[in-house]
Amino acid sequence: MTTAHAFPYEASGDLPLEIRPRDAAARDLAALCQWLKDHREEVQRWLVRHGALRFRGFAILTPEDFERLARAIDPELKNEYLGTSPRDAVTGYVFNASELPDFYPIPQHCEMSFCANPPRRVFFCCLVEPARGSGETPLCDFRKVWRDLDPAVRQRFEEGGLRIIRNYSGPGQGDDRDPLRLKRWPEMFGTTDPAAVEAKCAEQGFEPTWLPDGGLRLVSTQPVHRDHPQTGERVWHNHVTTFHLGTAAAEYARIAQLRPTERYTGLLAMARSLEAKLREKPALEQSMHVTRLDGGEIPEADLEHLRDVIWHHTVIDAWQKGDVVAIDNHSVSHGRMPYEGPRRVVVCWA
Ligand SMILES: [Fe+2]
Repeated sequence: MTTAHAFPYEASGDLPLEIRPRDAAARDLAALCQWLKDHREEVQRWLVRHGALRFRGFAILTPEDFERLARAIDPELKNEYLGTSPRDAVTGYVFNASELPDFYPIPQHCEMSFCANPPRRVFFCCLVEPARGSGETPLCDFRKVWRDLDPAVRQRFEEGGLRIIRNYSGPGQGDDRDPLRLKRWPEMFGTTDPAAVEAKCAEQGFEPTWLPDGGLRLVSTQPVHRDHPQTGERVWHNHVTTFHLGTAAAEYARIAQLRPTERYTGLLAMARSLEAKLREKPALEQSMHVTRLDGGEIPEADLEHLRDVIWHHTVIDAWQKGDVVAIDNHSVSHGRMPYEGPRRVVVCWA
């Protein structure tokens, strides 16, 4: 890589492109932020080409340091979150990445792909490093997923369409000790005013139904793909593998293969029996599920093929304390591997 000015850093790798200080003097965060601001167009080009950048070895110790670096790449951070993970705010714009229990695998997804305008950038920062071989934030280039899907499967997904179902409990409902509980709808929308919720739903294209027990059902649709706004490349860009009720078992099956421990074979058995039980309930009553637009189930073989293609392109790198990863959310997805023990990863987006 060449620039008009001396490049005080080292860069290597593909997904992500890793940027490191050349020497101890170049670890300074203020200097890095200034360099990123001065070379914003070039940095944007790297981000789009590689899909993600990782900054390693810089003096990043706090959520505030992280926010500063993220703003140097994209000054327009947002703080409205319409996802499903329980997620706590740390600064005005930095959140704990997910409060979902440590054993739960978060499958690959482009952040808020089911919203009308998903974020263009997502940033993660590791403040407490998880134990080796766990707790990574894997990345996957969804341009390659679109390209490598069997054309017949792609066509069935496009013709069938996607219908996302989410059921949120109401104020005071649901058991806080239930590790897999979704947020309650007032937490999700930041208000207890049903009219405000309905306005937000209309803005995002979610169809709300108030349930007799105080809960809220959201049904929405989304396209199977989006075209990259800068390059025009077609990208697999939807939440089917995240929201589908078969997801947990499908992920554990692959994780248990990669990391054959008793923990994961046990979790796989548990997820399979839970899924069998859940399948007795109609699709509309599942806490999260995805069907075709006509309400029919998506063929299991198609989902399995899709998951195989995603896993084939997934890159799993260990976190190091102080790492920051900047992701082009238009092209690259992220997820989370299960872990045990301490881990702290924070997130912000633009
Ligand atoms: Fe996410």
